[in-house]
Order: sequence, then C-alpha cells, then structure tokens
Amino acid sequence: MAVDALGRPLRDLRISVTDRCNFRCTYCMPKEVFGRDFAFLERAELLTFEEIARLAQLFVREGVTKFRLTGGEPLLRRDIERLVAMLSRIRGVEDIALTTNGALLTREKALALRNAGLNRITLSLDSLDDAVFRRMNDVEFPVARVLDAIDAASDAGLTPIKIDMVVKRGENDDSIVGMASRFRGTGHIVRFIEYMDVGNTNGWRMEDVVSAREIAERIAEQWPIEPIPSNYFGEVAERWRYIDGAGEIGIISSVTQPFCGSCTRARLSADGKLYLCLFAGTGHDLRGLLRGAADDETIAAAIRSRWHKRDDRYSEIRTEATPATKVEMSHIGG
Ligand code: GTP
Ligand code: 5AD
Ligand code: SF4
Ligand code: SF4
Repeated sequence: MAVDALGRPLRDLRISVTDRCNFRCTYCMPKEVFGRDFAFLERAELLTFEEIARLAQLFVREGVTKFRLTGGEPLLRRDIERLVAMLSRIRGVEDIALTTNGALLTREKALALRNAGLNRITLSLDSLDDAVFRRMNDVEFPVARVLDAIDAASDAGLTPIKIDMVVKRGENDDSIVGMASRFRGTGHIVRFIEYMDVGNTNGWRMEDVVSAREIAERIAEQWPIEPIPSNYFGEVAERWRYIDGAGEIGIISSVTQPFCGSCTRARLSADGKLYLCLFAGTGHDLRGLLRGAADDETIAAAIRSRWHKRDDRYSEIRTEATPATKVEMSHIGG
C-alpha cells in the first residue's frame, strides 16, 4: 500500500476531464480572468479516455478505491459515459462519483451515466434565490434548471445525491437556511463549503469566509442538529443529522478546521499531470510517460515514488508556505 511522507494512504483519485466550464462562478472562474482570450488546454493536450483508464487502473494497483470525475465541467467532455464504463470495469474500484453544475444533466444523460456504472452524483447549487444564483454563476443560469437536474439524477438512481453550496459572506450566506429547508426530508444531502483560497484569481479574503461553526449555528437555530460519525477515513464533510429525523447535512471546513491529516486524495489534471494537493504549485507529468511508451510498471513506480515523497498540507499551514502560483480549481477539479 502506498503511504506518503505523513503516513497517509492513497485512496481517492479525482480525475479532471476538461479545464473548461460553461459557468463562470465568481469564486472559481471569474470572467475577468477566464475570458475570451484565456488559453484553455488544446484537444491534443487532453488525455484520451483510453489514457485516463490506463492510468486509473495503475492508481488502483497503488491503493485507490474511489474515483471522482470533475472538471471544469465534466459533462462538457463528449460521451463521458464511455469513460465511466471503462472505469467501472477496473477490478477493485468501489465507488465512482461525478461532480457537475447540472447544466447538461438531462434525464437521458443521467440514465446513460447510471447504466455505464456511475454510482453517485454531486451537484453544485449556491442559492435557491435566482438573482443570487445568477450573480454567482455569472452566466445567467437559472435555479430551476439545476433543480430539474437534481430530479433527473435522483430518478436515475444516482443516489444519495449531494448538493454543494460554497458559502461566501455577503453574497449567498442568506441562502443557507433556505437551502437546508428545501432539501430537508428529500434524502438529498446539502453540503455547505467554506469559501477557499484556491487558485490565484478569485480575490479571496478571510472576511468573506463564513465558518463551519457559524453555518452550523445558523441551521441549528431553525432545527436542532447533532454531529454523526464519518462514513469513512478521510471524509471531508463533517456530518450532522436533524434531530427530528429529516435527514443529514454536511459542512466542509477546509479553512477554519483543515483536514490535511487524513487527506488521501490524488488529483489528475486533464492534461495528465499528477497533483498531490489542491493548492499545489505544480503537477508531475504522467502524460509524457504514457505517450513515451513507458510500460505499466514504470508508470506505477512513478506514481508510487511521488506519493511516497508527498508532504503537502497546505490548509494547515496556509499563510506560512503559499506557493507563488497555485493551480486553479478549474484545472484539477473540486
Ligand atoms: P464524498 O465522496 O461524497 O464523500 O465527497 P468527497 O469527499 O469526494 O468530496 P467532494 O469531492 O464532493 O468535495 C466537496 C468539496 O470539498 C470540494 O468541492 C472542495 O471545495 C472541498 N474539498 C474536497 N477535497 C478537498 C481537499 O483535499 N482539500 C481541501 N482543502 N478541500 C477539499
Ligand atoms: N472554495 C470552495 N469550493 C470551491 N469550489 C470551487 N471553487 C471553490 C472555492 N473557491 C468547489 C465547489 C463547487 C465545486 C465544483 O468546486 O464545491 O461546487
Ligand atoms: Fe464551473 Fe464548477 Fe468552477 Fe462553477 S465551480 S465555474 S460550475 S467548475
Ligand atoms: Fe489535502 Fe492539500 Fe486539501 Fe490539505 S489542502 S486536505 S493536503 S488537498
């Protein structure tokens, strides 16, 4: 089993399939930076599905049991269900999930993904208030269409569905209680995420963060909640249940209570670089090995040796050791 320099096993591989997105969420891909002239990856730079599946299988050999497909927006990658089918055939994989903004998640797409072997979907939705949501996605995308996508995923059996809300003070913190209220009792799990200083472009300030503690308090004022144990080692969300039995929520406290100590996640960018932390300055090229005809053992050894040396714990040391430029979230996924 691959264990890193801080004793953390490799369990989770997050695969970004494109660095493009049809939204311009202000906290992730601000329009001023990700405009017309932005140099996204060229087609030839992207790993093919065959290349991704080959790497994925080598990661499984090193201990990975869970894949998450991300982007950018992963549904922009045509026939993504073909990749899901390839991943689901790898022996030893226990869970395949996908994170999407829902814009392209039709009923047909949800069923195709399910039939290909996808287990679960996580959708992003930052508010139920149309004006607030449109301001945050910055492409005038309406709430109603995300709600339709949630229904499509639910009807296709891609459950339990998680709904991620990034909370930014002054922008959507008034939507916390509304989101909790709307999804209580539906079986869907809303997760409130502290706004993070990922990348270099979102103009993050500590004052804009609403702490996990404050989020829990605001919800508890309406409905009593209590903490419940994690589902697995290294789960990022703290779980809470409504005492009245209306289900659970999650709160992700990456800023105020970092969880690097149990971080079992590796990230693969769409151009085949291995990133060992969400806040890493650089990735390690695997595409060169793939395209240079390296054999499986050589590539597996490269993955293993990178993981062995891994000592990243950015969220715990935040201000002391910020890399000059951090990778963008849209490049390696949420
Ligand atoms: P489940 O598989 O459903 O338990 O979810 P997950 O643990 O894979 O979490 P998910 O990918 O849905 O992540 C939700 C959010 O948590 C992300 O969008 C990020 O904002 C944050 N997050 C996830 N992983 C990390 C991480 O390694 N470090 C930090 N700082 N934040 C993370
Ligand atoms: N802070 C926290 N989460 C973020 N995401 C993107 N940018 C940020 C940020 N600055 C996450 C959100 C979103 C997913 C695609 O990426 O969870 O739903
Ligand atoms: Fe796109 Fe998700 Fe980033 Fe929003 S948060 S811009 S939907 S990748
Ligand atoms: Fe893992 Fe880096 Fe996030 Fe810490 S900051 S939890 S090491 S990805």
